[in-house]
Amino acid sequence: MRHHGYLTWEARVKVLLGTAKALAYLHEAIEPKVVHRDIKSSNILIDDDFNAKVSDFGLAKLLGAGKSRVTTRVMGTFGYVAPEYANANTGLLNEKSDVYSFGVLLLEGITGRDPVDYGRPTNEVNLVDWLKMMVGSRRSEEVVDPNIEVKPSTRALKRALLTALRCVDPDSEKRPKMSQVVRMLESEEYPLARVDRRQRRRNQGGIAEIESQREFSDTDRSEIQGSREESRG
Ligand SMILES: Nc1ncnc2c1ncn2[C@@H]1O[C@H](COP(=O)(O)OP(=O)(O)OP(=O)(O)O)[C@@H](O)[C@H]1O
Ligand SMILES: [Mg+2]
Repeated sequence: MRHHGYLTWEARVKVLLGTAKALAYLHEAIEPKVVHRDIKSSNILIDDDFNAKVSDFGLAKLLGAGKSRVTTRVMGTFGYVAPEYANANTGLLNEKSDVYSFGVLLLEGITGRDPVDYGRPTNEVNLVDWLKMMVGSRRSEEVVDPNIEVKPSTRALKRALLTALRCVDPDSEKRPKMSQVVRMLESEEYPLARVDRRQRRRNQGGIAEIESQREFSDTDRSEIQGSREESRG
């Protein structure tokens, strides 16, 4: 799956999906749940088959039954920390902060850019802000990492982007759970029906058209609607 030292789109999706599944386990399958607090690309290790291993639990916090959040000293890595956690002096934290960091990670995978890059023009320094601007002005196709040789399909790209935008929602309560993120990312692996492919060829346009594409279920449609509103916010 590797070409000239850069991961292919498929390899990136595999790593990100593996990471999402690991986080879904930590957040939803065990008690007390575990909030990792330092999800970022250098803490996701991969093997030769692009299986993801989430590492560096040094900052992880346990969230016991009945507790929806804990108050802690703000930790994590600049560019990945959710706004409610980074800005509040109180350092209120729950698993939705990991969801935000995962969204940033997903955007890194799609674009090949760093979360914060002062080497870029002012309006491109912050990856999340730039992404919202690009998607809002229907320029999604331009955000893909130029180092990806075989570009993702429009449908796969939009699904990944919309999932990421939902994860970085400034309102932590609106962010999806990691199990929902897994479902959203996995559904792009289903083969497209022929009719959908024809439709896709006609529909090369912006985000609004994504809702008219027949391959999305009703659930997905409402999830996508949410991020569309957010991205135009
Ligand atoms: N077991 C490992 N095998 C291969 N590479 C690893 C392993 N553990 C860490 N690395 C890599 O070594 C580098 C340094 O990791 P390290 O965890 O010390 O710092 P970091 O992830 O950049 O920041 P932080 O200290 O906040 O986690 C990273 O690029 C990381 O991906
Ligand atoms: Mg590390």
